[in-house]
Amino acid sequence: MKICCVGAGYVGGPTMAMIAYKCPGIEVRVVDVDSDRIAAWNSETLPVFEPGLDDVVLKARGRNLFFSTDVDGAIRDSEIIFVSVNTPTKTYGMGANRAADLRFVEACARRIAEVAQDPKIVVEKSTLPVRTAESISRILHGTNSRNGFQILSNPEFLAEGTAIKNLEDPDRVLIGGESSDAEGKEAVEKLVSIYAQWIPRDRILTTNTWSSELSKLTANAFLAQRISSINSISAVCEATGADVDEVAYAIGKDSRIGPKFLQASVGFGGSCFKKDILNLVYLCDYFGLPEVAQYWEQVVRMNDWQKRRFSERIVKVLFNTVADKKLAILGFSFKKDTNDTRESPAIDICRALLEEKAGLSIYDPRVTKEQIKAGLSPVKGVSESTAQDDHRIQVASDPYQAADGAHALVVLTEWDEFVRLDYDRIYQSMKRPAFAFDGRNILNQSELRQIGFESYAIGR
Ligand code: UDX
Ligand code: UDX
Repeated sequence: MKICCVGAGYVGGPTMAMIAYKCPGIEVRVVDVDSDRIAAWNSETLPVFEPGLDDVVLKARGRNLFFSTDVDGAIRDSEIIFVSVNTPTKTYGMGANRAADLRFVEACARRIAEVAQDPKIVVEKSTLPVRTAESISRILHGTNSRNGFQILSNPEFLAEGTAIKNLEDPDRVLIGGESSDAEGKEAVEKLVSIYAQWIPRDRILTTNTWSSELSKLTANAFLAQRISSINSISAVCEATGADVDEVAYAIGKDSRIGPKFLQASVGFGGSCFKKDILNLVYLCDYFGLPEVAQYWEQVVRMNDWQKRRFSERIVKVLFNTVADKKLAILGFSFKKDTNDTRESPAIDICRALLEEKAGLSIYDPRVTKEQIKAGLSPVKGVSESTAQDDHRIQVASDPYQAADGAHALVVLTEWDEFVRLDYDRIYQSMKRPAFAFDGRNILNQSELRQIGFESYAIGR
């Protein structure tokens, strides 16, 4: 069997590498229009940092896993085509800042219709608004009536940083299709049989297409809601003297609530949560359900507020001004164990501090200098002032250099190495009073205070 995936990003790359690794009998091609990205997939330094990924790619690459820019060739030769192109939130026109921009998905569908010479199974991997499969189907059948196309929804639930573990041993795989007709059923079965090569059958769920599409949005909305819920309580903790970590632990022990996704933080980030919730909000508005739309939108608002609250607290504590003070920023990726910075809370927090004229010295173990600079470069209409603030942004090559001469330490990502730093040494190199703001609650507050830091965390 030959299969391919259009889009060699954080989702397409690791997912296809795992399929190739687990299914030596299947030839897997991953194609992308971005030739630099493909070159990186074929090099020693993969474009995506993900623990365990190098190993999986090395085992399969050249054997039955191939990366190339030959999109048409891959489409032509493949029986199953996964679509994993990006679906950013629209920044223009109708539904701006809410609806998903589907132009890449549509372009991909049109390409498939043009190039296909025999029946294809098209699998949506990108997270899409509900009923997108229907649009893809109409484009395919409208443009190419010679061949049969089956459209399946197969949303990805991997979380970055743990992608390999999630792909190897997922809680569930979800496949949506139209099992009411024989061809639809056969297509679903074909995709099931791929995953069944390493995943127990009872974890492979099949539903109708719309349930599958909606389940992805709902799963992410529920996960993000838990974070916004605990973050809202973190503000109450700060006001009352309760400790949010103790509260989270206590409620998580209730098996009905469970312990996961209750880590209070500077706010959630990543390419999916905000985008998927806004998708859901747009959908609800579209279907005349404004109450439901507002209910979910509040999860995003709470997150924005949490980020704002954190940067405001820093300014307030530093005697109401951070102008020309050096702040050491530890962590820039949206979570640990990834080099991804999309929607990272660090971006908004750094921007807010730059607006206050702070000087930032940023260190992240995996994010490149160029990526940090690009993340903070002015976005049209957001902040004109950051343009002139470029000289205020320094990227440090180690955490000690970042902290040297700083007024405050600001932890924005929960990288393990930050827990093990020599805080004595850091304290000695900083200005007095030396402040520490732990936006991830990973540092030992009492130890920091003993050293001499004036130290703050979330929800304490
Ligand atoms: C993307 C979506 O953002 C997410 O909603 C979905 O769940 C999975 O796909 P990700 O893999 O993280 O997630 O995106 P990204 O890393 O941006 O990769 C997308 C790739 O598609 C890029 O490398 C881009 O060059 C490629 N692409 C985009 C094409 O090959 N053709 C196109 O027409 C558009
Ligand atoms: C998420 C979903 O978990 C995954 O199933 C889906 O396929 C894509 O979106 P991802 O965005 O990669 O995955 O990471 P996730 O682990 O969900 O973290 C998202 C954000 O929430 C991060 O910024 C993280 O730091 C934050 N977070 C997570 C918290 O602030 N507290 C928590 O308790 C958990």
